[in-house]
Amino acid sequence: MAIDPASSGDQALLQVSALRVSFATADGELQAVRAVDFSVRSGEILAIVGESGSGKTQLAMALMGLLAENGSASGSAMFQGHDLLGCGQKQMNRLRGSKLAMIFQDPESTLNPYMSIGRQMSEVLEQHRNMPHKQAWLVAEEMLHQVCIDDAHERMRQFPYELSGGMLQRIIIAMALLCQPALLIADEPTTALDVTVQADINRLMLDLRERYQTAIILITHDLGMVAGLADKVLVMYAGQTMEYAAVADLYQRPEHPYSRGLLRAIPQSFSNKLAALQPIPGNPPNPMQLPSGCPFRDRCEYAFADCTATPLLRPARHGGLIACHLDRLPE
Ligand SMILES: Nc1ncnc2c1ncn2[C@@H]1O[C@H](COP(=O)(O)OP(=O)(O)OP(=O)(O)O)[C@@H](O)[C@H]1O
Ligand SMILES: [Mg+2]
Repeated sequence: MAIDPASSGDQALLQVSALRVSFATADGELQAVRAVDFSVRSGEILAIVGESGSGKTQLAMALMGLLAENGSASGSAMFQGHDLLGCGQKQMNRLRGSKLAMIFQDPESTLNPYMSIGRQMSEVLEQHRNMPHKQAWLVAEEMLHQVCIDDAHERMRQFPYELSGGMLQRIIIAMALLCQPALLIADEPTTALDVTVQADINRLMLDLRERYQTAIILITHDLGMVAGLADKVLVMYAGQTMEYAAVADLYQRPEHPYSRGLLRAIPQSFSNKLAALQPIPGNPPNPMQLPSGCPFRDRCEYAFADCTATPLLRPARHGGLIACHLDRLPE
């Protein structure tokens, strides 16, 4: 499958081009995202994967218009005829309530501990859909059914502290879906949950994509999780795209040494052709002092003289894109 983002613009729901995010800090400019391109179609699930600090959350925050005050974004992110990076606050507020939704990395910050689940959910519909309170309450309760919450009627009257982590995460997903967004960004939606609940939430996301054709950007540091879930994967390192490929291609024949490193760092059942669990040695570079050339070169076992020059993103054998000077990844 050819997934060159430049060629898929026509049918794309979201087309991101040359997205950069930087922060002004006391020590100078921090470049969190450096010229990333990708596209997502309706009903498609794109996973964005990379180690901590690679810029995944800030990329999402830029798309949602929610960067911190010292942050700024450039490039473009075309979504249903709007450039998300150029929209005013008012337009963004409208889109966020109705067409775009995000599940944040720290779920505690999403729900108000002092309000019942039902009140929080129905307020979303009252505000963004102008629904009368009674109708909003019923629609919210129905959405709890949709995400397979038992006793939805009783849950509506409960407060967040009365519910388990898995239940709260389902409620957050239900809330994000209340206005049937065209695009859902889920930032590490299951990291804090135990494995069986993770599997339930993953099934739920697949189900939602089927039912509503919701496009999903799934952010995770765990390549293992995206195996049965995503259609394509963007592998980020130090704010840059390292590899962009259909999920099956990335698993079967990763072309970037960093992607292969991430695959080797997940349990064997997901990548049975590869050797036992092997974390990638070393740490990502300090974003304030990025090395010249390939940012991965200090940790790459195949680094050679060319790697001191920045590798451009180029077509890969599997039809996706990679940024690597190696002609072919050695077996
Ligand atoms: N307001 C800010 N000011 C300065 N730097 C920031 C700010 N917010 C984030 N950063 C920096 O931006 C970089 C990217 O952070 P980001 O949160 O996107 O990483 P991430 O890939 O989501 O990591 P994780 O997997 O740990 O969630 C980090 O170096 C982070 O410290
Ligand atoms: Mg993050």
